[in-house]
Amino acid sequence: MQNPFVYGSVVTGPDFVGRESEIRDLRMSIRNGKSTVIYSDRKMGKSSLLAEFMRRYDDDFIFVYLDTYGITGLNEFLEKFAEEVTRHSLSKVRRFASSFLETIKGTGLRVIMTDEGEVGVELTSARPRQHEIDEVFELPEKIAKLSRKKMVVIIDEFQDVASVGGVQLIKTMRSKFQWHKNAVYVFSGSRRHMLMSIFEEHEGAFYKFARPMTLSAIPTDEFKGYLVQKYSSAGGSLSDEVATKVVEAGGGYPYYVQHVAYELFQISMSPTLDDVDAAIQSTVDHQSSAFMNIWESVRSLLHRRYLLAIAREPDVPQGVAFIERHALRSPSHVSRIRTQLEKRGLTEKGRIVDPFFARWLRTANLRDGRE
Ligand SMILES: Nc1ncnc2c1ncn2[C@@H]1O[C@H](COP(=O)(O)OP(=O)(O)OP(=O)(O)O)[C@@H](O)[C@H]1O
Ligand SMILES: [Mg+2]
Repeated sequence: MQNPFVYGSVVTGPDFVGRESEIRDLRMSIRNGKSTVIYSDRKMGKSSLLAEFMRRYDDDFIFVYLDTYGITGLNEFLEKFAEEVTRHSLSKVRRFASSFLETIKGTGLRVIMTDEGEVGVELTSARPRQHEIDEVFELPEKIAKLSRKKMVVIIDEFQDVASVGGVQLIKTMRSKFQWHKNAVYVFSGSRRHMLMSIFEEHEGAFYKFARPMTLSAIPTDEFKGYLVQKYSSAGGSLSDEVATKVVEAGGGYPYYVQHVAYELFQISMSPTLDDVDAAIQSTVDHQSSAFMNIWESVRSLLHRRYLLAIAREPDVPQGVAFIERHALRSPSHVSRIRTQLEKRGLTEKGRIVDPFFARWLRTANLRDGRE
């Protein structure tokens, strides 16, 4: 029997649960021409929400989806931006192609045919000048106007844009986007600190530009219903009690709920509470090489010691006794460590963000450099 649970890839349609109020909210903002910024921890379901939104409203809007993850240079970003904006539009509004070509004439952009036979856009110079960069960010509005539909430009993992082009680039983006009436923007990302500084601090380049939306856990009852229904449609059965334990094990992360449910389905078609423990362990095991990479990327012994300490004692005040017990030197050391780990998105308010990373830290027999 095929396993009905999906983790690790974007989910939509029958695999997608909840988020109705977020979807309504997003739709309303877009209709009002207001841009949105979606914050959440990793694996909370940002990309899935965006994909489901695009699936549902494909007829109403022109969607442009840009995943900037892994983009390394300014040119690459500009070309990708221009290309996605034009490709999606041209495929939808072929009859506007010639007026579009008119629009693009005389800018630093050149229309090309890609290897796949699609229309693409290229920068004509290796080092784009400011006015050429401006042109690129004018494209959404121009094309939306031509097509007489609202264009929704979604930039997923937006924090990476800031790392590629620096403050100057995102300032340019804002200076253009803020005049757009037919193009609306949705930014999303998981590096809360970086995004907050762009969108919510006074000096931030996008201060007050977008409505913030935070994704939190999918409510337990909704998720339970989904698990039970998936189990039964795959020919198995899941009790309410076991479903509750699975959702709780996920610690609020849809990714982990699905992962544990997937492992559970491998174990039994009508699982017991004990089976859930085995499924949890199996999930930790599957993640262990990813966690080991994170662990090894934390170079400082003191940082490692702190991570282990808060994994083992999650709800303990981190005062003098705690610092002594874990040989963390001094309160000012701890405060510096916290700042740095928070910046990396590993901890938040003195707790480990990812509940399965915390679980792994507790069970993986790691050394804290004192033995
Ligand atoms: N609405 C949902 N219904 C069911 N499962 C979901 C939902 N949203 C997310 N998931 C589960 O969580 C996983 C991660 O979702 P997704 O990739 O959308 O998150 P993300 O926040 O974009 O993650 P990342 O920060 O890694 O990009 C999915 O593979 C799926 O298993
Ligand atoms: Mg994502």
